[in-house]
Amino acid sequence: MTPERELRRIRKNYNRNAERYDRGIGFLDRLTRDARRKVGESVQGRVLEVGIGSGLSLPYYPAGSELRLVGVDLSREMLGLCRRRASEAGLVVELVENDAQALPFADAVFDSVNFSLVLCTVPDPLRAVREALRVARPGARLVFFEHVRSHLWPLAALQDLINPLTVRLDADHFNRRTLEIVRAAGVEVVWIHRWALGFFNLIEGKAP
Ligand SMILES: C[S@@+](CC[C@H](N)C(=O)[O-])C[C@H]1O[C@@H](n2cnc3c(N)ncnc32)[C@H](O)[C@@H]1O
Repeated sequence: MTPERELRRIRKNYNRNAERYDRGIGFLDRLTRDARRKVGESVQGRVLEVGIGSGLSLPYYPAGSELRLVGVDLSREMLGLCRRRASEAGLVVELVENDAQALPFADAVFDSVNFSLVLCTVPDPLRAVREALRVARPGARLVFFEHVRSHLWPLAALQDLINPLTVRLDADHFNRRTLEIVRAAGVEVVWIHRWALGFFNLIEGKAP
């Protein structure tokens, strides 16, 4: 499949299933809320959230803070839900419909960048992280809360097995080596937290 076709498929999928995703992901809440809270505490200044989706991370950004939040997503429907969530919470968020692999921002304009559950879907995650580094200021904080290929081989083997199915059904890659991708892009990894047998990673890094 060409990259353009893959992108169209992802956009269509999230446009069609935005409400379902927003409601359905709730079952992961207990497993993910600490990571979302940590992400919210880690960012500062002008923040870019890549693949912001329906804005499930919005409640975790510190209230009344000096954050200036910009969210990018491929899906108009997901952004619509995000806009509604932001306005209900009285938050100001600039939302931009765009591909994470070619961001419409100048170089070195963000103090922090957050990826939450998005690199599993982006067709070329290395390109997306390089783009994040381009728009991040030197020394900016980058946080990645992602489901990844486990470091434990039995789970990793299972993930390798089901990956063709999840990619086909949902464009969702179940065996991405996200830590390696983040490092290969040039992020200086500061720490990594693994949980749920390494299915989830929270990676914090710095732009060089
Ligand atoms: C699993 S959802 C996660 C949404 C949100 N970050 C969260 O934590 O709930 C993945 C999101 O990434 C977006 N996405 C996927 N590929 C993208 C791309 N290439 N550029 C921008 N957004 C993308 C999808 O539209 C979707 O909203």
